[in-house]
Amino acid sequence: MRTISDVQASIKAYQAKTGVTILAHSYQSPEILEIADITGDSYKLSAAAKEIPSERLLVCGVHFMAETAKLLNPEKTVYEANPLAGCPMAEQFTPDEIRKEREKYEDCAVVAYVNTTAAIKAVSDVCVTSSSAIEIVKRIPNRHILFIPDCNLGAYVQSKCPEKTLHFLKGGCPYHGAVTLEEAKIAKSRYPDAKLLVHPECKPEISALADYVGATSGILTYAKQSDAAEFIIGTEISIVMQLQLACPEKRFYPISTRLICPDMRITTVSDIERVLRNIAEGSAKPLELDADTAANARHALDEMLRLGG
Ligand code: 13P
Ligand code: SF4
Repeated sequence: MRTISDVQASIKAYQAKTGVTILAHSYQSPEILEIADITGDSYKLSAAAKEIPSERLLVCGVHFMAETAKLLNPEKTVYEANPLAGCPMAEQFTPDEIRKEREKYEDCAVVAYVNTTAAIKAVSDVCVTSSSAIEIVKRIPNRHILFIPDCNLGAYVQSKCPEKTLHFLKGGCPYHGAVTLEEAKIAKSRYPDAKLLVHPECKPEISALADYVGATSGILTYAKQSDAAEFIIGTEISIVMQLQLACPEKRFYPISTRLICPDMRITTVSDIERVLRNIAEGSAKPLELDADTAANARHALDEMLRLGG
């Protein structure tokens, strides 16, 4: 039977032949993160995708991340490791719903979390990631902001930007948003000395209990640099394992054993190997986007890099 190391070695051999750069979101499995050229949260992957010299990119994450890489690099060829991996939050609203909602407020900018489809980005003024949202909302001249789709992240941004009035549609991550205050309290009472680190996609009452609220990269950095010995991790469960591997002398506990994103879990090293083999043989299907949608969506992403950089 082939081992994971065999598949990883085969991936490296195909990469040497094809010149493909592999980007992987931090929620991917350790064996994918090990062989990826670039790893990080949504913001780091978006920013890095623009700087990569290679002509072909392979994205391991969910669909909107591959779309974002393509939008930022229209001249490059972008492949998805597993096209079935989507983000349910990215498709919670239609462009029409956003247009209608915007009309309700004067002097209103539409701010779209990067976890949205290209079609939603195309009707938005600027995109944000969880690590850049506060900074970007502060820099937008408009007083009213329609913040879509995650109202938990939006509520967190509102608490840090009292000078703005944020409006919401009721969207959010079905997994981060499902963690209950009860679960957070149970974890805190079970591990009373642990620091609670929470992604802002969790409910505001959970963020209010946290020692640190931030994007995936912020949670990773905080836990690695902190002098504390124990941490409760309020984001996707893969981060618990990743931190435990990186910091064996510390202890990491999930806030909830239900905080699992099934879409982030379905990509395997075998998927990566298959796509690279198809690229080498000339039969792989690259990601294609409608030209008009892409032009408008690209504007919102360029604004994100301009205002957040
Ligand atoms: P980050 O912006 O922290 O990478 O989060 C992406 C995501 O999908 C969180 O659920
Ligand atoms: Fe989307 Fe939530 Fe999965 Fe992140 S964890 S990709 S927001 S469904």
